[in-house]
Amino acid sequence: MSMVWKIDDLIAVLSVEDKVKLVVGVGRAKEVPGAAGETRSVKDVKPISLTDGPSGVRIEGSGDLWYYATAFPAPIMLASTWNPEVVEEVGKAMGEEAKYYNISVLLAPGLNIHRHPLCGRNFEYFSEDPLLSGVMAATFVRGVQSTGVAATLKHFVANEQEVNRRIVDTIVSEKALREIYLKAFEIAIKEGDPWAIMCSYNKLNGVYTCQSEWLLTQVLRNEWGFKGLVMTDWGAGDNPVEQIKAGTDLIMPGNDDIVKWVIEAVNRGALPIHYLDRAVKKVLELIERTATARESRREIDWKKHSEVAYRAAVEGVVLLKNNGILPLKPGTRVAVFGTGQVETLKSGMGSGHNHPRYVVTILEGLKKSEVIVDEELSSRYENYVLSKRGKDKLDKLYRDEILLEHIPQDIVSEEDVAKYAERNDVALIVITRISGEGWDRKSVKGDFYLTDDEQKLIDIVSKYFHSKEKKVIVILNIAGPVEIVSWRDKVDAILVIWLPGQEAGKVVADILLGRVSPSGKLPITFPKDWKDVPVAKSSECYPGIPQDNPRFVVYCEDIYVGYRYYDTFGIEPAYEFGYGLSYTKFEYRDIKVEKTGTSVKVSLDVINVGAYPGKEVVQIYIKAPKGRIPKPFQELKGFKKTKLLKPGEKERIEITIPIRELASFDPDRKLWVVEPGEYQVRVGTSSRDIRLIASFTISEEHIFAP
Ligand code: BGC
Repeated sequence: MSMVWKIDDLIAVLSVEDKVKLVVGVGRAKEVPGAAGETRSVKDVKPISLTDGPSGVRIEGSGDLWYYATAFPAPIMLASTWNPEVVEEVGKAMGEEAKYYNISVLLAPGLNIHRHPLCGRNFEYFSEDPLLSGVMAATFVRGVQSTGVAATLKHFVANEQEVNRRIVDTIVSEKALREIYLKAFEIAIKEGDPWAIMCSYNKLNGVYTCQSEWLLTQVLRNEWGFKGLVMTDWGAGDNPVEQIKAGTDLIMPGNDDIVKWVIEAVNRGALPIHYLDRAVKKVLELIERTATARESRREIDWKKHSEVAYRAAVEGVVLLKNNGILPLKPGTRVAVFGTGQVETLKSGMGSGHNHPRYVVTILEGLKKSEVIVDEELSSRYENYVLSKRGKDKLDKLYRDEILLEHIPQDIVSEEDVAKYAERNDVALIVITRISGEGWDRKSVKGDFYLTDDEQKLIDIVSKYFHSKEKKVIVILNIAGPVEIVSWRDKVDAILVIWLPGQEAGKVVADILLGRVSPSGKLPITFPKDWKDVPVAKSSECYPGIPQDNPRFVVYCEDIYVGYRYYDTFGIEPAYEFGYGLSYTKFEYRDIKVEKTGTSVKVSLDVINVGAYPGKEVVQIYIKAPKGRIPKPFQELKGFKKTKLLKPGEKERIEITIPIRELASFDPDRKLWVVEPGEYQVRVGTSSRDIRLIASFTISEEHIFAP
């Protein structure tokens, strides 16, 4: 690593102006035009570039300059794999692509919690559960950083809505913060050692996160031992001097006015120089740490990366329902309905999109596979999309960021559907939902609910196909949950393919044909209805819907987020956290629980007792004894995906849970506490399909400092 300067020596000779320039970045990047930002050039210190993002390297091209990069499945789908190895591979491939484009810092992974189904950026985040989120983020970080590129955890913290994201004040108890929202970051930091973190736009209990000394210095650095750099989200907060004092090291994207503001504060004595030096040191350390990335750029094996994207996507497909129709046999004649077969969504919008060389649409994937597509029907959807969207828009679909407004899906008459039912063996209906940065989804038809035309399509297709004893499969190409209960009985199979990245159509074909048995599990709860979601209880708990200009949001449900709420208060979801079917069947046997002074080891056998090869996700939920501190009914404390098990094959699974991870935060004592009593170990294939139960006893209270 050939840095010409030594950090402390350099700090000793830099002028105040130079120091300030190092900690205030620029947005209009010159090194890599189209990147999200870069640092400034100061003396011998060259700028480094930063760019998004969570679904693939995103650099905006212009004119003839295009930065093609692999479109990987969105993080919501990565989390659905429950397979950290796959996520690490994705991180590594993204790191290599970042490096190829001379990007030193990747602005990913996103690690906010799916507090409710409608946050516009949920697809950029992993899960409603902090353990699953934290583990996935940690492995993603390790993958990225193995290439020498820095990963950035974002958005720290409590940024679970997009409405008024730049000013909204998140009001949340310290207990919920520690157990849910901070917890995901804590795990990712301790297990992944990210070199950077991005504080969020919002305020936290009255203070902008990027200006919170408690958050950035006390919790992040002093308690968790974070050694990396803190940068602001783009334009976050309202006072750069407060930001630097609080523990922010790099203000992004920054501008010359901010440079002046900070210099003036130093000169006036309002910003003691040691704060500035601390930030400068972190910026220089980040530049130094990422030097190998800039020195070891090499060509990308794009084919190999497309395979990484494919592998991750195929493991993240979640099978919600299967009345025995899947997998399809080669030669099955398939009638495909819905515009999503042509304008398949690879990703969401905003920082979570990028520019792949191609996207295999669902239609293209099916046509190349061993099913026989009713091409006349599909060409009607193709022509319809072309006439409604225009050629220009379609040409740009995967190159630009395009919002596809809903267009009616029921373009076929009943007589036509009767004809298609006659000449095909099975019907496939594709339903799509997009979302993106800067806006939230809505609990209305066309978003959380299906539109009337989508419902009608399901009605008539089911009617005519069922009258011929033929089955109907729905494919959900969605950014987040939709309402399913009102129509699920009308169809025979439902597959969630989320936003699967550039290999979408290949993934769909391979799953439908059983080349791969689905092994994805929901990383979130699918509620039966919006009114069942805890945040829907009052407009204070989720302002913005219907109000448009919220100043604050109260996390009323406290620690009862996602399944923690549904399980504790006995609300039945449409599909529970951890749910997902396979083409094969697994049995769980021979549970053993061994407790030592510091951990609990759970082991068990998983046996494939079905007819197809498949992978299973073993989930361990712990139900704590009733004690003094409020606890959810159960909490995920460990998980493991098996290897590919052939029919009859068995794997012994071992999961170790540190006793510390059983603790709840006691806000009165400001300590983590494990209360004594009998703890139930619940081993499930989902949070509600528990296959084995055992227990262990904690004889005395354990306490841990935060
Ligand atoms: C987003 C960040 C992103 C940044 C740079 C912001 O608007 O919130 O997630 O990394 O822009 O593109």
